[in-house]
Parts: sequence; C-alpha cells; structure tokens
Amino acid sequence: MTRDDQSWIGEQTIRGITQFDQAMISAYPESDAYLQGAREYLRTVGETCNYIAAAEKLDWKACLPHDAKVLDIGCGGGWLVAMLTRIDTVRMVYALDSSRHFLRTLLPQVVELMNGHPEKIVVIEGLFQPLLFDDAHLDAVVASSALHHADNLESVLIEIRRALKPGGRLVILNETPWPGWRHLVSVMAAAARVVRDLLLHRYRPLSPSISSSGYLYDPKLGDRDYPMWYWEKALKAAGFSIESVMDTGMPTVKGSKGRPLIHFVCRVA
Ligand SMILES: C[S@@+](CC[C@H](N)C(=O)[O-])C[C@H]1O[C@@H](n2cnc3c(N)ncnc32)[C@H](O)[C@@H]1O
Repeated sequence: MTRDDQSWIGEQTIRGITQFDQAMISAYPESDAYLQGAREYLRTVGETCNYIAAAEKLDWKACLPHDAKVLDIGCGGGWLVAMLTRIDTVRMVYALDSSRHFLRTLLPQVVELMNGHPEKIVVIEGLFQPLLFDDAHLDAVVASSALHHADNLESVLIEIRRALKPGGRLVILNETPWPGWRHLVSVMAAAARVVRDLLLHRYRPLSPSISSSGYLYDPKLGDRDYPMWYWEKALKAAGFSIESVMDTGMPTVKGSKGRPLIHFVCRVA
C-alpha cells in the first residue's frame, strides 16, 4: 500500500446504479411532470393507472400478521408505504428503493397527502440485494411492480426469504405476467428484431435481451418479462408456497386493453 492508494469501489457503485426515475425521464421525457410532484405522481399511479385500485383489492389485514414489521421493496414514491402505515396492525414499514429522489422528495409528501403515519416508516436507500437485515427479521415483504426489475429474480427471492420469519408473507403485486404461449410469441418477435438489426448493421448501444430465463424488453428502465410459469417456479425454488394468485382484471392504464395486473400472495414454505 502506498499513500496514493485509493478505493473507488463505493463511489463507482453509487454512480453506476441506474436511477429508475432519471432513466425514466431521459427515455420518456413526458414522465418528468409526474415524477417531480407528489400530487401528479399520485394522480398517475392512482387515477391514470390502476396500481392503487388493484392493491386495494387485497385483504391486507388477512395478509399481514398482527404487529407486523413490513418491507416494501422497490417502494418508489411510497403510495403503498402510506397505505400500509394506515393499517392499525402494522407496526412499522421499511421503505426501500435505490432512488434518492423517490425516497427523499416524493415519499414524505405522498405519505402526507395520503394521511399515512410517517412515524411508522424507516426509509432505506438501497438495492434489492443483499438486504442488510438479520435472518428472520421481517414479518412480511411487499413489492408492487418492482421485482421484474431484478437482474436475477430467484436470488432476490432467496434473499427476501432469508430476511423473513418462518411462515412470513411475501405479497408481490401489480405484475403483468403473460401466459406461457403469449410470452413465447413476444420472445420470438424480439428474436426476429434482433436478427433484423444484425442484418441491417443497426447500431444500438443498449438493446433488449432475451434468454430462456426472461426477456429484458426495456433495458433503460430494467423491465423484464417473465411468463406466469417462470414466476411460479422461481417462487417455489426460493422456498415460497403460493397461497393465491389474484387476477385483478385491471390493466395497468385505466381503460386500456393492456394485460391485467396480477398479485401473488406467498408464504415461507
Ligand atoms: C416500476 S417502479 C414501482 C414503484 C412502486 N413500487 C410502485 O408500485 O409505484 C420500480 C421501482 O423499483 C426500484 N428499483 C429498481 N431496481 C432496483 C434495485 N435493484 N434495487 C432497489 N430498487 C430498485 C426503482 O427505483 C423504482 O422505484
């Protein structure tokens, strides 16, 4: 070691993390307005989209044990955090996300607008994994439209299971898995586009990628598509039993013909 040795790893890691909100604004500039203000954000998730309405279909009191310590992983602007703090049997909610903007700017305002209880919230600026909780620390984990952003779904699920108490609950909500055949059609269409781009020498610094374990269809935002069977197998492989799968019948955007939002209620097996 010399006096000039330096460690860049920590800072490089922070700078290297794609911030979802910034990626969203550069890829979809129209999203700037709703990501800047809590009212606009809530209007988008609650009025333009069905995220809040679909979450309200779940019987949360039945899903969460009494006096529950809950982690909302990939909580974004915190509408679900706010909702959960209003449940009297919830003791505390860890609000984890990699976006500083969501956590520091939007979440406090969203919690206030939704009449949530800020004293029950612990904000964690962090990644899906590793989770810096002791084994069996949590009673429940919730994830709304978040886990399809994981680079490796199964390893995040295994990490969640480690942090949950025996019998603890995992509620994955607002995902949009295709049936197996429909996923296959969309992957084949993507493969055809890859072949076309190669034949045309079309340069793309960042492109979707396909594999038998998922389809990264939006590399800017890190959105992956998994068919229903893959979610089920990954959950089982990570040590969860699936108690129920709820098809809300609600598309992401109200009034659209999109895929329905699906919830998985799971328990540590
Ligand atoms: C589609 S948004 C969903 C946000 C919120 N749960 C909701 O339902 O509105 C996905 C969220 O996951 C977060 N995220 C993506 N990858 C992450 C990672 N590896 N670690 C932590 N958060 C991540 C993003 O910052 C973003 O807030």
